[in-house]
Amino acid sequence: TDIGQRAHPGPVPGDALIDTAVHDAYRRALTHREGVVADYIPILGAADPEAFGLCVADVDGGLHEAGQTRTAFSIQSISKAFVYALLCEGVGHHEVRELVGVDNTGLAFNSVVAIEQAGGHPRNPMVNAGALATTALIPGATAERKWQFILDGLSRFAGRELEIDDEVYRSESETNHRNRAIAQLLHSYGRMRFDPAETVDVYTRQCSVRVDARNLAVMGATLADGGVNPVTRDQVVSADVCRDTLAVLAASGLYERSGEWLFEIGLPGKSGVAGGLVTIAPGKAGIGTYAPPLDAAGNSVRGQIATANLSRTLGLNVF
Ligand code: DON
Repeated sequence: TDIGQRAHPGPVPGDALIDTAVHDAYRRALTHREGVVADYIPILGAADPEAFGLCVADVDGGLHEAGQTRTAFSIQSISKAFVYALLCEGVGHHEVRELVGVDNTGLAFNSVVAIEQAGGHPRNPMVNAGALATTALIPGATAERKWQFILDGLSRFAGRELEIDDEVYRSESETNHRNRAIAQLLHSYGRMRFDPAETVDVYTRQCSVRVDARNLAVMGATLADGGVNPVTRDQVVSADVCRDTLAVLAASGLYERSGEWLFEIGLPGKSGVAGGLVTIAPGKAGIGTYAPPLDAAGNSVRGQIATANLSRTLGLNVF
């Protein structure tokens, strides 16, 4: 399970090879017990630390699963990647680059210092500040319209009608003081294009959307497939938007650990604090994992180990 070997890009591997690789990666990652389940959102602390599921969705629509791929959890920050793609589709490359930025902060996902250092600029859409600025820009004159736009878009990425987890939404709404402060701070710099409190509410809802590892794999495969959902064949976003989104994920998808991740795995990915992780092998597949214990940056430990293993055995590293 060491993650320091080189991988070589090649063609899309065959079904039997992917199935074997998925089961092998699952079995190896299962032996790892490092990491801590997040509890700053109280309800997340109730997650089973042993829960673990791994799914690869290839661009031909095939699913390859091991473990708890049907266990539901909240999408959390993984939503940022897909909401960003939905915004790019509507607003365009130039605009989002200017407003939200594309550079890593080198700091934690909820850092206030990062905002101050950049003179009020969020720097990228994967940290909370940038995600709030992104959600504020989503089409729709009211919070409800924006929320419907987001829920509909996330559902198209997943290929099924997603729903909010009310318990998570309530738990996070009661404790998200820091995000409210970040939204107000951005507002003070003139960088919130919608009411800050309402934006935090829409953002909290988007983070509370319920998914499983299989849904994440299909969502990732849609970005791998030029924006076409490989199961439903729905064109959710354009190929250009996928390219922009994957570049941002490569730089910032795993926060301040993005360099480490890219060095070892060589693929764009996005983590969520409930334990989800999505990884995109462009032109080949999406990988979705669920395992709640996290490293210090907020990234799933088993998810990273299993994905590193798959990247190596299937030759997915893009470099
Ligand atoms: O805003 C928050 O803090 C959470 N809703 C999402 C954070 C998150 O998922 C960070 N990821 N690893």
